[in-house]
Amino acid sequence: MSEQILSEIGDSAIAYRDSTVEDIPALFELWQESGSLPTATDSVEALETRLRRDGELFIVALDGDRLVGCLMGGWDGWRANLYRLAVRPEYRRRGIAERLVRMVEKRLLELGAVRAYALAVKPEIESVAVNFWNAMGYELNPRTLPYVKTLS
Ligand SMILES: CC(C)(COP(=O)(O)OP(=O)(O)OC[C@H]1O[C@@H](n2cnc3c(N)ncnc32)[C@H](O)[C@@H]1OP(=O)(O)O)[C@@H](O)C(=O)NCCC(=O)NCCS
Repeated sequence: MSEQILSEIGDSAIAYRDSTVEDIPALFELWQESGSLPTATDSVEALETRLRRDGELFIVALDGDRLVGCLMGGWDGWRANLYRLAVRPEYRRRGIAERLVRMVEKRLLELGAVRAYALAVKPEIESVAVNFWNAMGYELNPRTLPYVKTLS
C-alpha cells in the first residue's frame, strides 16, 4: 500500500507515505535529533531488513523533501506494536505524530490487529511521550513489565 496523504499544517503541507530504504540516513538523523537512543537494532542492515517487512506500517511525514516525522508499526499476527515515533522539534505540536499514529492504527486494524502496544520513556526521565500516548487513548498496562534481551 503506498497511499500518500497531504495535510495542511500552518503554512506547510505535510505529506505522509510508506518509508523506503532511501529514507534510512534521514531516519537516523531524525532519531538522533529527537533524543532516541541508538540500540542494538540501529544499523543500516537492520533497518533495510525492517523496511522489507510490513512496509505499509512504517510511515514517514515529509515537508517537501525533508523527512520531519516517522512511526514504525509492527504486526506479528498476534500483537501490534508502535515504536520509534519521532517528530523534528520545530514541527512539534501541530498534530503530525497524532496523524502518524492514526494512519498506522487504521492499517493495523485492516490487517486484523485488535490491541496495540506502545513503548514510552518513563515519566521520571521524560514526560512528553507519556503525555502523548495518554492523549492518544493508550493506558499504562499495570499487569506487565517490558523485558528485553539482545540476541547476540
Ligand atoms: C512525542 C512526539 C512524537 C509528539 O509529536 P507531536 O507531533 O508534537 O505530537 P502531536 O502534535 O501530534 O500531539 C498530540 C497530542 O499529544 C500531547 N502532547 C504532545 N506533545 C506534548 C508535550 N510536549 N507536552 C504535553 N502533551 C503533549 C498533546 O495532548 C497533543 O495535543 P495538543 O497539541 O492538541 O495539546 C514528539 O514530541 C517527539 O518526537 N518527542 C521526542 C521523541 C519521543 O519522545 N518519542 C516518543 C517515544 S515512543
